[in-house]
Amino acid sequence: MAGRFEGLTVLITGATGGFGSVSAAMFAKEGARLVLSDHPSTPLDEVASGIEGEVATLAGDVTEDGIHDRLVALAKDRFGGLDVAVNNAGLSHPRARLEEVEDARARLVFEVDLWAVWKAMSAQIPAMDVRQGGRGGAIVNIASLAGIAGAPMISVYSAAKHGVIGLTKSAAAENARRGIRINAICPAFAKTPIVMGGAVKAMMDKGSTQEEAEAFVSRGVPMRRLGAPEEICQAILWAADPANGFMTGQAIAIDGGVTAV
Ligand SMILES: NC(=O)c1ccc[n+]([C@@H]2O[C@H](COP(=O)([O-])OP(=O)(O)OC[C@H]3O[C@@H](n4cnc5c(N)ncnc54)[C@H](O)[C@@H]3O)[C@@H](O)[C@H]2O)c1
Repeated sequence: MAGRFEGLTVLITGATGGFGSVSAAMFAKEGARLVLSDHPSTPLDEVASGIEGEVATLAGDVTEDGIHDRLVALAKDRFGGLDVAVNNAGLSHPRARLEEVEDARARLVFEVDLWAVWKAMSAQIPAMDVRQGGRGGAIVNIASLAGIAGAPMISVYSAAKHGVIGLTKSAAAENARRGIRINAICPAFAKTPIVMGGAVKAMMDKGSTQEEAEAFVSRGVPMRRLGAPEEICQAILWAADPANGFMTGQAIAIDGGVTAV
């Protein structure tokens, strides 16, 4: 049976990270051809070589001039076009009250998490636009639960992710008749480096066991656990799936029930 993404080209940023690497493998299993990107400091080619299927890579900083145009050009040159883009690269800042977040770090978070998503979409939309010769497609922006509600002690990250949802909804409406669906996935804490090396590690540094730290971090989650990367990535693929053709402009929480109560 043909995979859900057979013959389609899928571009993923932050491709060596938790959601990036897991979703890349899942898209490839479903027949996608991949354009993978991540920061030059990451083992991008190593991750790419572990994926079965057709993969093109281009390392770059998502805030770097022209990187998103070059990624779209790579998708066109290697695979004839772009069908799906997963704007996933992101980072947070150390837990701190709003006024205590360092200027340079706040600027970096806004640039990577928000400005770069705008630049990425600015390059991806014209390539997919059926009115400009594109073949339509889907953009999936990885926002966060912190983009739906306030998140004390990670306020700048929360603001940037709220911004991603604003971009998502606005662009979805602008492009609804141009064959492009644009949605945001909003995970709660999941077991990826951003969390295991952040909130969980911070507690373990103070003497908690990993189990205690995970329990503390997920204390507000009705399921009382962190999400598995695979569970979040299932939702990313679902949002991108051409069969999901009437869904656009949504910010979908994948959160173990947090927003249900
Ligand atoms: N894990 C969670 O609990 C969680 C929850 C909500 C949202 N998110 C979001 O999911 C996305 C993926 O995060 P993850 O959990 O897989 O964490 P991760 O740290 O494993 O992955 C993030 C990736 O982004 C890349 N990146 C960071 N800055 C970059 C830059 N300037 N240029 C290029 N690439 C850059 C990193 O190299 C890394 O591969 C992020 O946008 C994050 O904010 C994660």
